[in-house]
Amino acid sequence: MHTALNHPLVNHRVALLRNRETPPKIFRELANEITEFLAYEALKDMRTRQIEVVTPITETTGEKIDERIVLVPILRAGMGMLDAMLKILPYAKVGVLGMQRNEETAEPIPYYAKVPPAKGEEMAIVIDPMLATGGSACDAVNQLKKLGYKRIKFLCLISAPEGIAKFEQDHADVPIWTAAKDDHLNSHHYIVPGLGDAGDRIFGTI
Ligand code: PRP
Ligand code: URA
Repeated sequence: MHTALNHPLVNHRVALLRNRETPPKIFRELANEITEFLAYEALKDMRTRQIEVVTPITETTGEKIDERIVLVPILRAGMGMLDAMLKILPYAKVGVLGMQRNEETAEPIPYYAKVPPAKGEEMAIVIDPMLATGGSACDAVNQLKKLGYKRIKFLCLISAPEGIAKFEQDHADVPIWTAAKDDHLNSHHYIVPGLGDAGDRIFGTI
């Protein structure tokens, strides 16, 4: 299952993010703002428990989040979404997966992994701005499943139909939340229209 947000507040920011004139400082701010909207939608089904609350007027009931969450940014571009996720989920753990695409084949090359094994029903949220061929995201979810995670979500800023198709084939149980679903991949496996190389744009390494 994949959901593209398609909301004016998001689309406005996505257009600014795509603009090649947008400098890294603004790019990072936009990426985090869009991530907050993504998280807001993607976490609608979070588990809560009922609590008693005493207001200045009366006693009532409220909800308290009842989830343990592990955020999993895929290095390096996934770091560009982490601040927003931690702002919303300040008690989440963070596990890190390092992955670099082979420039010729676009195959993901894993180079680092530091993710705690799943404890009970802990939810893992994978964050990476780009879902292009889907290789990196699928590999990340494979690693998480081997670590025992059964409840996983994938959040990205821009996705390509090719990556969505691969991901849904390999991991039909993992929902994809994306700010924008783009048109296609070019011959270099970049998303069109896309935003270029997300890592370079976040870290100013173009
Ligand atoms: C980018 C992006 C994803 C991956 C998506 O990372 O952040 O991880 O490409 O492409 P895919 O769906 O075809 O796997 P990249 O390998 O460029 O590394 P970086 O984040 O270090 O720049
Ligand atoms: N990775 C990126 O950063 N951009 C793309 O368009 C595809 C993969």
